[in-house]
Formats: sequence, structure tokens, C-alpha cells
Amino acid sequence: MIKKGIILAGGLGTRMSPLTKTTNKQLLPVYDKPLIYYPLSILMLAGIKEILIIVNKGTTNQFKKILLNGQNFGVKITYAEQDKPRGLPDAFKIGKKFIGKDNISLILGDNFFYGQSLSEKLKRASKLKKGAIIFSYPVKNPSRFGVVTLKGKKIVSLIEKPTNTNSNLAITGLYFFDNSVVKKTLSLKNSKRNELEIIDLLKMYKKNNLLKTEALGRGAAWLDAGTIEDFNQTSLFVSAIEKRQGLKIACLEEIAFLNKWINKNNLREAISFYGNCDYSKYLRGLF
Ligand code: G1P
Repeated sequence: MIKKGIILAGGLGTRMSPLTKTTNKQLLPVYDKPLIYYPLSILMLAGIKEILIIVNKGTTNQFKKILLNGQNFGVKITYAEQDKPRGLPDAFKIGKKFIGKDNISLILGDNFFYGQSLSEKLKRASKLKKGAIIFSYPVKNPSRFGVVTLKGKKIVSLIEKPTNTNSNLAITGLYFFDNSVVKKTLSLKNSKRNELEIIDLLKMYKKNNLLKTEALGRGAAWLDAGTIEDFNQTSLFVSAIEKRQGLKIACLEEIAFLNKWINKNNLREAISFYGNCDYSKYLRGLF
């Protein structure tokens, strides 16, 4: 079972300068809520209630202002600061104490997931006992990502940002690992781009036949909001769906309420926390 999750919300956001000069990327708006709400909602949909958010040095208070310690939406959030980005697996070094003896999931702070039956897939993945699970998604430009090549369900290869590949399956920024990931991270060496690479961890699991791929198919959406263009695309996507359905994507209080992690009183508190806005109006409609 996976009860704990880490959101990696550090990074310099240089590709989005000047927007990121004063505000962390994960606090910028994706349509009607800060970007961080989206990966957080994914962990919550997986049933994960203990969450560590890794942020840039000196920025914990900015995140706390909006997320507090998670009490508004029935989870427990702790924060850790990172002085500089050292690659995704660094999360398991920084989070060693938080992880303890448990299994762990990791989600990148700028990854957006949406789709029918996604919650079931997440809940299934959170039952992981041994090994690791990745989520693949077909993309037009695989060279920008880690890429998995499959033969049937079997993983043939894992390559980080290949110049040439026959596979169009990107490895998305959501991972479920057993506890051995902490120890495995210690044996990693820096790559050419001078970072620890998540793909090297995944290769260790693959070598022992302990890596599984869960496919997010063409009916799902995965966006990584790393550039201004991607940010804008993600905003437009959320806006289109929300306006059409009248339902919000990544409304943390709604997920918590449906999970029975919070009650009507907590919703009332959340409404007074947010003040008079559309988000509050939506929360009022939940009870
Ligand atoms: C990282 C991973 C890559 C993965 C991607 C998902 O890339 O290294 O394997 O496909 O996240 O967003 P980076 O953002 O470090 O370029």
C-alpha cells in the first residue's frame, strides 16, 4: 500500500521567466487555481493523505499561505526546502525521513493529468507492494521526455530524451515505488546533464523484472506545464472542460469531501478562507 507521496515543486522555472522571477512556477495560475493544486489532486485521488512538498529554498511560506498544512482538505502536508535542483531522485534523499519504511509515490509539480477512470488506475497503483509503476502516454514529440518501448506489455527499453525512437510513449511524471527506492537512489551517479536521473532508477527495477507500465490512453490528457506555451495550453484545457461541465478539475476540497476526509463544516471554513470568489461559490454548491 502507498500512503505517502512527494510533490517535487522546486526548480528554477527559467523557461518561464519573467513570470517566475517573483513567483514559483507551481503557484502560477492554471486557469482558476494554482498549478500545485493539480498534482496534489492526483495524489489525493490515489488515496494518499501524507504529503511532502519539496520547494525552493526560502519559499515554504508562499506555499503554506495557500495550502497551509493540508487541514482544509483533510491531508497532512509537510514541506522541505531544496537549495538547488539535483534531478528527480534527489526527492528520495531529501524525503528519506518522511518516507521511513514505507512505499512512496512521486509526482512532478508541473504535471497535469486528466481522464475517465484515472482515479481507478491511481487507486490500483497505490496498492503496490513490491517494485515500481510508471504511467505511459502517447506524445507527438517523445524526444522531450523519458521514453518507454513496449513489446506487448513487456518493457523492452527505457531511454531519457532519445534523439531517435520507434516508441511514442512518454514516461509521465508520476511514479509509484517500493521502499527500496531510497537505497537504490544512493547508488546513482550523476548523468551528463549533471543530475540524478529517474530513468536510471527505473532501469534498476526493470533489470529485476519489477517495473510495470500502466497506460494512459488517448482518452486521457497529460500535459507538462514547463513552458509558457504548455502553461497556456493547460489553462485552456481546464477552462474548456470546466465551462462545459460546470465541474471543477482538481478542486481539493471536493475530492476530500467525496473521500469523506472533511465534512460540511470544513467546507464552510474553506469558503471563508477563500473569500468571495467563483471557487467558493463552487464549494457552496457541494452541500
Ligand atoms: C523528467 C524526466 C523524464 C520524464 C519527464 C516528465 O524530465 O527526466 O523522464 O518524462 O520529467 O515530465 P525533465 O523535466 O527533467 O526534463
